[in-house]
Amino acid sequence: MTENPIEIADLRKSFGSGKALDGLHLTVGPGEIAGFLGPNGAGKSTTIRVLLGLQRRDSGTARLFGNDAWRDAVALHRRLAYVPGDVSLWPNLTGGEAIDYLTRLHDTSDRAERRRRKNALLEHFELDPTKKARTYSKGNRQKVALVAAFLTDPELYIFDEPTSGLDPLMEAVFTDHVQQAKEAGKAVLLSSHILSEVEKVCDTVTIIRSGRTVESGTLAELRHLTRTTVTALVGEDPGVLAGLAGVHDVTTTAEGDEITKVDLSVDNAQISAVLAALSRLDVRGITATPPSLEELFMRHYGADPTAVAHRDVEAVTR
Ligand SMILES: Nc1ncnc2c1ncn2[C@@H]1O[C@H](COP(=O)(O)OP(=O)(O)O)[C@@H](O)[C@H]1O
Ligand SMILES: [Mg+2]
Repeated sequence: MTENPIEIADLRKSFGSGKALDGLHLTVGPGEIAGFLGPNGAGKSTTIRVLLGLQRRDSGTARLFGNDAWRDAVALHRRLAYVPGDVSLWPNLTGGEAIDYLTRLHDTSDRAERRRRKNALLEHFELDPTKKARTYSKGNRQKVALVAAFLTDPELYIFDEPTSGLDPLMEAVFTDHVQQAKEAGKAVLLSSHILSEVEKVCDTVTIIRSGRTVESGTLAELRHLTRTTVTALVGEDPGVLAGLAGVHDVTTTAEGDEITKVDLSVDNAQISAVLAALSRLDVRGITATPPSLEELFMRHYGADPTAVAHRDVEAVTR
């Protein structure tokens, strides 16, 4: 049986009187790319530090490949690569030397092949390896850690907000390399605040809040719980739509004498009923947009507290 790369259950960790982790669950299966989302202070980095054996948990389980994250930390480090959001380097080493030092644990046999891969990565990430690390910006230090991580061949990558100092172009390079890691069968835990990045590469998403898991599943499963946004141009009075089950937030705007623009959101389970009703309204144009991860996320964290309460009601009545 293949063990899950990451298995966390009911994980708890307090700092003084503050609970950083308060019953967190997270599973990453073999070959799975898992997004790990939550606002600042939610407990993402603490979870990752417990996984890396850098911090000891108060209770619960934290396993990597079936081994205990704390007790077996040293052996486990050979099987994973980790990139934090804020990379510290030795100021007097050059970027290239730092990469060699960071990858020494994972020495791969063929030196020519390693050099070729290193040069390719340096080129992709547009990093000059001859500069001393003390001259590097935050983004360049992150690039050093990313090149080192992708140069090794671990079974699991753990990224903690790895692109927070990178521009969008470099973020895309990062996403490409995660995609390649996925094709090579690696598992990835990607903590990120950039929802589009997670949406692009992740198979599953876990959303945490105040040290607790509030949602987890595949993107398709999470989307299923949400709504599609529909905009239509119609020639008939769209008043009937607002009365349909599962329809929310209807707004209408006159677009000339004959045409009305109607915007609404609809629970995914009710889409066909709404389309049937629309088809009787002399439709001149229509767009339907599936919910983005951002909308999902905002349901938990949005400024409107009723958004979360409303979802709870739905969950009960579903
Ligand atoms: N070493 C520490 N000492 C005291 N409090 C900490 C420490 N590390 C994290 N915390 C607290 O734990 C909570 C979770 O932090 P963190 O895991 O860094 O969240 P995230 O990475 O999601 O932003 C925060 O309230 C933070 O202040
Ligand atoms: Mg953090």
